[in-house]
Amino acid sequence: MGACPATPYCQDMADTLQIRYGTTGAEADLAITDATIKAPELRRFVIDGEPLATYDPGFMNTAVCRSAITYIDGDAGVLEYRGYPIADLAEHSTYLEVAWLLLHGELPTASELDGWEALITEHRMLPDKLKTVLAGFPYDAHPMTILMASVAAFFSFYPDAQNFTDPDARALNIARLIAKMPTLAAFAYRKGRAQPYVTPDDSYGYCENFLQMLFKKAERRYAADPRLVRAMEVLFILHADHEQNCSTNAVRSVASSGNDLYTSCSAGIGALHGPLHGGANEAVLKMLREIGTVDRVPEFIEGVKTGRARMMGFGHRVYKNYDPRAKIIKKSVEDVFEVTGVNPLLQIALELEKYGLTDDYFVSRRLYPNVDFYSGLIYEALGFPPEMFTVLFAIPRSSGWAAQYQEFITDPEQKIARPKQIYTGARTRCYVPMDARS
Ligand code: SDX
Repeated sequence: MGACPATPYCQDMADTLQIRYGTTGAEADLAITDATIKAPELRRFVIDGEPLATYDPGFMNTAVCRSAITYIDGDAGVLEYRGYPIADLAEHSTYLEVAWLLLHGELPTASELDGWEALITEHRMLPDKLKTVLAGFPYDAHPMTILMASVAAFFSFYPDAQNFTDPDARALNIARLIAKMPTLAAFAYRKGRAQPYVTPDDSYGYCENFLQMLFKKAERRYAADPRLVRAMEVLFILHADHEQNCSTNAVRSVASSGNDLYTSCSAGIGALHGPLHGGANEAVLKMLREIGTVDRVPEFIEGVKTGRARMMGFGHRVYKNYDPRAKIIKKSVEDVFEVTGVNPLLQIALELEKYGLTDDYFVSRRLYPNVDFYSGLIYEALGFPPEMFTVLFAIPRSSGWAAQYQEFITDPEQKIARPKQIYTGARTRCYVPMDARS
């Protein structure tokens, strides 16, 4: 990659938006900063007794914070963590180095990284009583449900997380969360298979330790193919953060009422579970299996175009160009299949992509493969069942959520989240006694 120019992004735009309310002739010049106006400024206009507000379901065009963590240019297909292009990080970095970058804003020095890795290794174990929480779930409980409940339960074991204004307490609980997510995920996976838990082994790195906790059986020492470990590392890097997505918004919203990191991230796990968000990788595999063969792709595409089906893994609120992560994952697919053999579903995915990149339905709506389109194929090749795919998304996203949580609680501009509504219901009705009700 060429020399990366250091470009300050936020320009203070000394500009105004002149607006005029035609009915009363009221006018105002609203200051524009960072290509936004402050929505409360609109309240000076009163319409039928109501202060003027904006209506924006899903926050399609609403900024809720200032953030320096992740930059996305959806039209250009650009994704940068703290200014570093995702392709460079995927090629040169490790997941824990990226987690440090997201949290601290700079790449760690060698001694900082050594200390960070040692701290994460130290906190990989789960509290023993948490196994009782896991045992309370039905054998077939979805691992995302287990993850959501268990991360919330962490607060019971680490109540010092409530001291989130204390930087040391905050840093310790962020390290605990990042360290324990793989262990919790592996325990949830092994529980679903009625297999004994494999405890963390400090002689392994972060990703290899995760794989050994998942897949170790009776062998003396679990040895994963280095190409598979690297593929896991790259997937964790790619999924670490993605600015104000649905689950990060959930984390910030729950944090805004004064909650600790674990309670806030538990809400993020819930949001991520949805098939329109992090659950899409699981939904992609289900879609590929339902299509079944390449020759049934045209029939499926017709179903999408008539609204009977949705092409899971395609489309994005921000990317109106190829998701840069999808390109990198597609390369990792080839590396993994060298080890595991080609997943036959890949041919169906490639055929779907061909339609998606040429058919006017998708082109006109600027729908491209997103991060979830190919990741499921890798996860399945690595031996994961579909219900684990979103768990594999949640593990690395915990470092992004932690960085966003930290940025939120240290941002003096932030307040408790409490949006307005447009009321459409009845008003001031008289109570109707039971015998008078039809
Ligand atoms: C992630 O936000 C993030 O950053 C999320 C994420 C992250 O890292 O955190 O990147 C991870 O969640 C990726 C997205 C994973 N989800 C999916 O793959 C599910 C399938 N995609 C969609 O449901 C959809 O594209 C969304 C939810 C991702 C985005 O939805 P939007 O921005 O609200 O767009 P929309 O639903 O309003 O769609 C606009 C049009 C509609 O058609 P018309 O009404 O104009 O006729 O595009 C159509 C939609 O029907 N459309 C699709 C489609 N996605 C949108 N049609 C078929 N298949 C699709 N996948």
